[in-house]
Amino acid sequence: MTRVLPFDDETIAEAARLIADGQPVAVPTETVYGLAADATDGAAVARIYQAKGRPAFNPLIVHVPDLAAAERLAVFDDVSRGLAEAHWPGPLTLVLPARADNGIASLVTAGLPTLAIRVPAHPAMRALLAAVGKPLAAPSANASGRISPTRAEHVVASLDGRVPLVVDGGATEVGIESTIARVVDGRVEVLRLGSIELGALTGGEAIVAPGQMAAHYSPSKPLRLDVVAAGADEFLIGFGNVGGDETLSASGNPVEAAAKLYDLLHLADASGQARIAVAPVPDEGLGAAINDRLRRAATPTH
Ligand code: TXA
Ligand code: MG
Repeated sequence: MTRVLPFDDETIAEAARLIADGQPVAVPTETVYGLAADATDGAAVARIYQAKGRPAFNPLIVHVPDLAAAERLAVFDDVSRGLAEAHWPGPLTLVLPARADNGIASLVTAGLPTLAIRVPAHPAMRALLAAVGKPLAAPSANASGRISPTRAEHVVASLDGRVPLVVDGGATEVGIESTIARVVDGRVEVLRLGSIELGALTGGEAIVAPGQMAAHYSPSKPLRLDVVAAGADEFLIGFGNVGGDETLSASGNPVEAAAKLYDLLHLADASGQARIAVAPVPDEGLGAAINDRLRRAATPTH
């Protein structure tokens, strides 16, 4: 049975008890809900993979309270430190060389010599980090290959009975996962597009690394992109001028659209329509991150 409790001191204390006991707990971050466990406890991390049904070779992001805590786990070059100082707490994940004997369970990095770290901004995740006093490994709190959750209800729809507790902090603010970047020879490479734009990372000169899994954020129905007129069996997600059954943003605002993206994909997936269609979203700035997620959602996995 999965309990859903509102975010308050008592709930955080209960969540911290469960985590100390080796259980994963779902908790909101400013991006999406995460499924958090003690990153130093291999068995606890294994329970994350078990709950998500995630292939064990996909490494996890470690969440820490501040830059000092991050520097104890990984080696920062000057460019990475500058990025951290500019964007933490916030939706930026940095991939860095892991320090030897940093205590992080090897299952977290899936054996890689690098570690993905971020300092989250959401008060619930920050309260949990403070209460537990350990780094927390937390992938998005959805079954593997499904849409990331932006509300407690989404977590329950995907993982009911597979996690003991969901800390309900309402809808997340950003709505898409963190930007993932690493620095190679002083240059920033973006491994996953996110709400922090490339220009904001480098003053304009970031590289987008290829080779992420194409199919990842998948609804259970076929999805068509760049649609201006939907078919009779399609649930149309609108944007700007293109209305629809629901809209990402009637005014064409990409920040509003990112925040609503997964919500509307969940809604469309649960609707009576057989297919999902999405209006064109301009491929600039945050729009590029939205389109990246939509293309993955449109790639059939089942
Ligand atoms: O916004 C977010 O980042 C959310 C919240 C909960 O923090 N977390 C999240 O985690 O999206 P997850 O597990 O769904 O995505 C983690 C991504 C994966 O694509 C994984 O391959 C990549 O991070 N990753 C983790 N460690 C890595 C590493 N050492 N090198 C390269 N990529 C890594
Ligand atoms: Mg995920």
